[in-house]
Amino acid sequence: MRILGISAHYHDSAAALVVDGVPVWAVQEERLSRHKGDAAFPLLAIESCLQHAGMDPDELDAVVFYERPMLKFDRVLTCTLRAFPQSWRAFPKAMKNLLGEKVWMRGIVSSHLGVPGRKVLFTEHHQSHAAAAFLTAPTRRAAIMTADAVGEWATLSIGDGERLPNGATKIRRFREIRFPHSLGMLYSTFTAYLGFRVNEDEYKVMGLAAYGKPTQVEDVRRLIRRTPDGAFALDLKYFEFHTTAERSYSSRFIELFGPPRNPYEPIDFNTAEGRRFADCAASVQRVLEDTMVELAQSLHHETGLPDLCLGGGVALNGVANARLLAESGFDRIFVPPAPGDAGCAIGAALYCDRIHFGNPDRDLPDHPFWGPSVDGSELAQLAREDGHSAAVCEDDALINHVADDLAADRIVGWMEGALEFGPRALGHRSILAAPHTTEMRDRLNREIKYREPFRPFAPVVPIESAGRYFDIPPGGARLARFMSGVFPVRREWRSQLRAITHVDGTARLQILEHAMAPRLHALLEAYGRRTGIPVLLNTSFNLAGEPIVNRAVEGYSTFLRCKIDVLVAGGTRVMKRTSGMERTPVHKMKEEIA
Ligand SMILES: [Fe+2]
Repeated sequence: MRILGISAHYHDSAAALVVDGVPVWAVQEERLSRHKGDAAFPLLAIESCLQHAGMDPDELDAVVFYERPMLKFDRVLTCTLRAFPQSWRAFPKAMKNLLGEKVWMRGIVSSHLGVPGRKVLFTEHHQSHAAAAFLTAPTRRAAIMTADAVGEWATLSIGDGERLPNGATKIRRFREIRFPHSLGMLYSTFTAYLGFRVNEDEYKVMGLAAYGKPTQVEDVRRLIRRTPDGAFALDLKYFEFHTTAERSYSSRFIELFGPPRNPYEPIDFNTAEGRRFADCAASVQRVLEDTMVELAQSLHHETGLPDLCLGGGVALNGVANARLLAESGFDRIFVPPAPGDAGCAIGAALYCDRIHFGNPDRDLPDHPFWGPSVDGSELAQLAREDGHSAAVCEDDALINHVADDLAADRIVGWMEGALEFGPRALGHRSILAAPHTTEMRDRLNREIKYREPFRPFAPVVPIESAGRYFDIPPGGARLARFMSGVFPVRREWRSQLRAITHVDGTARLQILEHAMAPRLHALLEAYGRRTGIPVLLNTSFNLAGEPIVNRAVEGYSTFLRCKIDVLVAGGTRVMKRTSGMERTPVHKMKEEIA
């Protein structure tokens, strides 16, 4: 059975193809359209899925959309009318927005793809998140918690999932919390207040939090109170996101927390104002964590299960995830590589396969690499046309050259195999560098990533060495598989891992098993043989404001526009002509291989 899953029209659209119960392809629209956070109907991603499988749309058994547009319409209409007359300005825009194309999804899918309307199905938004979290995890029974800004009505759901011995699958929802009461919206409101982009920059709030003290926890708690049934409710007088699209916080919010940050002014921790914003971030971070921990504790108590699957955009908060692991009572926590809305494309397709059609349970590959593969020969041709030195090497020679590059403080653009699905570079589209000095961190920030200096870089380490450099609790390696947990760097190594150690002594590390990315694993080992420390700085291969690179030409164009010294795609290694460093002539490298 062939099922296409689609997520679209909020942020980060994506498509995924599931064939006979197993994902075979999944890609975010932004990676193909090159428009960051592309929320359009994902025609390119869909085409890419079909092309990969060599299929025409009429060979699809079902196309599943990741939420129910009429329920969403119901929510927007109800909230807008409830907030009338304050919402009168927002009303025409909201109606135009939804009625324009988003509500009539069956017709849109049907006309775009030429499939009959009866083949177009819908899952609920949080069912998609739950399926993406549970059905991709290597567990047969688990509690499930999903939390985001909002889907149709639900903003947080709890339940459980079970893969039965007879091949049937159950995903149950015990309870849900509904809009406008939303942990994601609470965090996004502070994201906007702190001058960052909502739905994009929430991780900056988490990074900023490490610089502050949670001095305003009591004030944040006025915004969100726990209810007797164990849920929570926002005090809506502090918010405006439910009445207008213009601003998410109210004047009462500003009375409580002070004037919002001007996005164009850098945050200076030497000023009282800079520290106020950091304290504010630390306070909302603490309240988010406390709330998640309490909800997870009661879910653990209720289910008695050792495993928890987490989904929804809130599951991208690695600091909260680490606290959940430490304090919720669950032994293992599974966060998929794409817990946000893009991942719902896989979730919706899998939910439809297992639950709607009742197809038998399948073990799924445990990796994030579901997109297009990079072509090293394309890079070699591009580079040679421009007069750059391009060498095509076999694996061992390539690994040794790149390890030498990294040990000589060269910054490497690393493209390998299939593109990651999800927001993080997990070793196939990464910028790699030596992790030891603050100079390297500043160089990357200044010359390549052009981003705020307070944001940390992440490390990648082989699973065999992780415990030596990082303080990994039981279950931590699983959480760090897709970079979903933040853990302490061991004190004795912090001075040698300055580029990846955050101000509070932690790192959002990726722990790499050989089978998941063998060449990167080999590179880490080779780097370790040269420097004594098999750890590399790993940041996503993109420039500020651009999506992560996909094809060789995009990696090459990025390489030319910034100060990356070496570019690798598959077996091809290119050095920048202008880098002023000694170059290895092509003929010499070929001799070495021979
Ligand atoms: Fe969501």
